Amino acid sequence: MYSKPGQATGLNGSSEARPYEPEKNPAIRRLTAGGIKRRKGKTLFPIATAYDAAFGQFVEEAGIDVVLVGDSLGNVVLGYDETTPVTLEQILHHTQAVVRGTSRAHVIADMPFGSYQVSNEDALRAAIRLVKEGGACSVKLEGGVYESERVRAIARSGIPVVGHIGVTPQTAGLGPGFKMRTHRDRLVDDARAIEAAGAYAIVLEVVDHEISREITAMLSIPTIGIGSGPHCDSQVLVLHDILGMYSHSPRFAKRYAEIGKLATEALAAYAREVREGSFPAS
Ligand code: KIV
Repeated sequence: MYSKPGQATGLNGSSEARPYEPEKNPAIRRLTAGGIKRRKGKTLFPIATAYDAAFGQFVEEAGIDVVLVGDSLGNVVLGYDETTPVTLEQILHHTQAVVRGTSRAHVIADMPFGSYQVSNEDALRAAIRLVKEGGACSVKLEGGVYESERVRAIARSGIPVVGHIGVTPQTAGLGPGFKMRTHRDRLVDDARAIEAAGAYAIVLEVVDHEISREITAMLSIPTIGIGSGPHCDSQVLVLHDILGMYSHSPRFAKRYAEIGKLATEALAAYAREVREGSFPAS
């Protein structure tokens, strides 16, 4: 039975585990977008992705209070080569799981390719589903000047939005690729447009480090760096890159554990014992 952080047991806990019933615990309050925005210039803060309840819980228990259900889901969980095929239904499904696995963290749901590009109405409908059905606290979408109207439409409806400029993986494979973005004026225009449209934070992905520093100093909203150097207000990494569970991690990622290797070893030990007849013990 699944238990929540702060309850009698965790995933590794005793027989006292109780089911999670969020609607029965009014004391649980999540970090808000406003709370994240107010960190600007005060404190550096980490963000990690998660895609299910168990790892949502681990991330929160590690003291990381902003969790992104990224469309990197496509690469690290669903086995695609890119994020482009990820659907709104898939993000919804995984957002619900992460929300169930966390209680205080701010859960950001990524808007997948195709869910916001066509019209403001589409974008708003998708964002509403992510909040209403998924339980997300805010949403994120990729694009600069050319998507700023979508950011504005969502923000005006009261749903907090995170922007995402620099390398935008949903379309990177269709042309511009994944190399470091160094066009200063374009990046500055994109960052300004997203802030002016009402985003409460902005991801800078694989942006030249000096340009990231300049954008971070210029904006009044937090910048969230990934492969963009140390000058951002926050850093985000993909869970599977942090934990060593993905074989195609980008060079800028840092691996803090070898969970993939440990998992293979544990499974091999189990398989060996079954084959030898030593598990289960008689
Ligand atoms: O999908 C994702 O995980 C992301 C982060 C890498 C920023 O967008």
